[in-house]
This record gives sequence, C-alpha cells and structure tokens, in this order.
Amino acid sequence: MSVVRQNIVLIGFMGSGKSSVGRRVATLLGFKFVDTDAVLVEREGREIAEIFASEGEERFRDLESAALASLKSLAGCVISTGGGVILREKNRVILRELGCVVWLTASEDTLFARVSRTNKRPLLQTADPRATVAALFTARRPLYAEAAQFTLDTTTFSHAEAAEAVVAEAQRVFSWDTPG
Ligand code: S3P
Repeated sequence: MSVVRQNIVLIGFMGSGKSSVGRRVATLLGFKFVDTDAVLVEREGREIAEIFASEGEERFRDLESAALASLKSLAGCVISTGGGVILREKNRVILRELGCVVWLTASEDTLFARVSRTNKRPLLQTADPRATVAALFTARRPLYAEAAQFTLDTTTFSHAEAAEAVVAEAQRVFSWDTPG
C-alpha cells in the first residue's frame, strides 16, 4: 500500500476519540492538527447542529465533502474527520490520498458511553440513541474497514496510549515509503 502524502488521517465512529487522540499525535510528532468538522464550521460560519437543523444531512454531507477536498494539498498534518466522512466513496478516495488512514474504534457500549456525555451530535437526538448508535455502527463498520490501512481498538486505551500506538504505526508506514 503506497502512502501518497505524509499525513495521518483519523477516521472512526462518533466517540472514538479522533480529536483527543489526534491532538496528542500531532503534539508527539510536531505535526499540525486539522479537524474536518472545524474546517467546515469555519468555512460556513455556522455550527454543525445548525446546518443539520436548517438544511438537513445531505447538505451537511456536501459541505463535509467540500471541506475534506479543501485539504488535498496538506502534508505534515494529523487530520481528524467527522464520523460519517466515510459514507461517500469519493471521500474514501481522498482519505487514502491524504495519507495513512487509521480507524480508531471501540466496543459499541464504549462508544455509546462516550457519546452520551454530550448532546451535541444531531444524528443521535433520537428517541432511542442506543439503537441509533447500533444501527449506524453496523452500517458503517465495513466502510471504515475499507478506508483504513490500520485499525486501533481503543476500548481499553487511554488517549495517551492510543496516540502512542498511532505514532508507532505511522512511523512504520512512512518509513516504508521513505526513499533510501
Ligand atoms: C457525524 C459525526 C460528527 C459530525 C456530525 C455527523 C456522523 O463528528 O461530523 O455530527 O455522521 O457520524 P464526530 O465523529 O467528531 O462526532
């Protein structure tokens, strides 16, 4: 598997720790940290919940794809992505072009416990959020697996431990690609 750009791209379900782990990975490597949700919010000047509420999920997905595409020239970054970025095939292609794609995952119960700490995620404002998590996770799992080069189960990991494991994998992947 050849890595096109020397970024680390974190994908995974809501609550998988992409932002927290990603920030730590960036610090460890001296990389810049970029979050596709933050890029989208900055470009739009509106919060994600507001976009979902006023224009719906498809419009959010269009903006998400545009935000991801705007990162194509980056290098030396840790890029954290929204949990649904893998839904569109063209996004999955861009993710792979951006660099080493790491799927951060955890048991469904752990993910649910983590996402239950806030109510900021529009997709989980349902009558039965536990069932919603189960349905979304089941539907998305194959897409995360398809997009990722490396999977890290963080169920029993602290953020610091997860970050160290990501760094170890990135060093392995990038040294394969370093000429000489
Ligand atoms: C989403 C995940 C969110 C955010 C939006 C949609 C999803 O990001 O992009 O609410 O479809 O899983 P996090 O994964 O950072 O929570």
